[in-house]
Amino acid sequence: MSRTAVLCYSGGLDTTCAICWLKEDYGFDDVVAVMADVGQEYDLEQAIERGEVAGAKEIIVLDLKERFANGIVAQAIKTNALYEGRYPLVSALSRPLIAGAVAEVALERQAEALVHGCTGKGNDQLRFDYAFKANYPGVKVIAPLRDQVRTREEEIVYAQERGIPITNTKESPYSIDENLFGRAIESGMLEDAWNAPPEEPYTMTSDPTKAPAPKEIVIAFEAGVPVSLDGKKLPVHELIHQMNVEAGKYGIGRIDMIENRAVGIKSREVYEAPAATCLIEAHKALEDLVLTRDELRLKHYLEVRWTEIVYEGKWFSPAREAIDAFVDHTQKMVTGEVRLRLQGGQAVVVGRRSDNALYAETLASYGASDTFPHEAAEGLITLLSLETEAVAARARKNS
Ligand code: ARG
Repeated sequence: MSRTAVLCYSGGLDTTCAICWLKEDYGFDDVVAVMADVGQEYDLEQAIERGEVAGAKEIIVLDLKERFANGIVAQAIKTNALYEGRYPLVSALSRPLIAGAVAEVALERQAEALVHGCTGKGNDQLRFDYAFKANYPGVKVIAPLRDQVRTREEEIVYAQERGIPITNTKESPYSIDENLFGRAIESGMLEDAWNAPPEEPYTMTSDPTKAPAPKEIVIAFEAGVPVSLDGKKLPVHELIHQMNVEAGKYGIGRIDMIENRAVGIKSREVYEAPAATCLIEAHKALEDLVLTRDELRLKHYLEVRWTEIVYEGKWFSPAREAIDAFVDHTQKMVTGEVRLRLQGGQAVVVGRRSDNALYAETLASYGASDTFPHEAAEGLITLLSLETEAVAARARKNS
């Protein structure tokens, strides 16, 4: 019986070589290479050509942009998902979708193995491995670059020996992952945490110190999901794309951080995620207006947990689904609009409104419209301070 492996293929050097390794070193007869379009910039023709020369039996391209935006990114926005308070989970969000879709292909073909191009040092291997197993239980997972560490130079020689076209022998010194929600940039000179990131690897954002004059935009949300920009209704993936373009001009959403990876090391990460930064900021501002104090407090705790669970690769888990149920319940009220001022390197919320607002000007006002029951305040504090007084009295007695 012929042996088939199904590979998550990007068209890059690693996964192109993987096609050859699978046949030459792992003994597979057929390799099915599956590419996923999650809104990244990529050269489709080159990827297909390389894949064919490398010996893929089939190259399949899946357009996952809408599923990504509606099914996953929208949930991350509702959950204000920022890992360690800053990183909008760009790669962590795309992996389960890609791996799940590729696993479906493998399942249809009853393939023996599912393959990804991650190394043993990163988070992405967890995300792929878990998602493969969650969607194709019992499948064999192969990660050639985890089984054997290879340098870029070795890969280039290996590929050239097999006639695989290498357009740029000194491909980018950075390791980059990209989708419609942002870009992750690692390695190269960034490995020295003291080095300031140069302009060169950024493609979604311009230099914030050279930003144009500030400008205001209005984002509307329905049940926690962004639905329009300056009054224009847009599907989520297009809205995100437009926000990336607009906010990118201002250099908004550049993030430079030391992050704690699941495998126990700290890594220096540079991200650019203009739309993610703006949309989460705006979404939080709307929630502040409409959710109760207890909802906000509970939700904040669950947001942190959701983000950690997803970061560590457990998208397919009952815990994540249960948090989604909580979040979705809270989002029923999160409909309204947010004014956002775009300026160099920053998106500033300058206004918010909603028919569901719990904020009431008449209660908050110090002006003539004030309806706050002032006479009740003293009694409230008399009761609430009983404990403080008891503690103070005890301290006096014992001293
Ligand atoms: N550290 C980030 C994460 O774990 C980004 C990983 C991006 N992958 C890459 N090959 N550059 O989500």
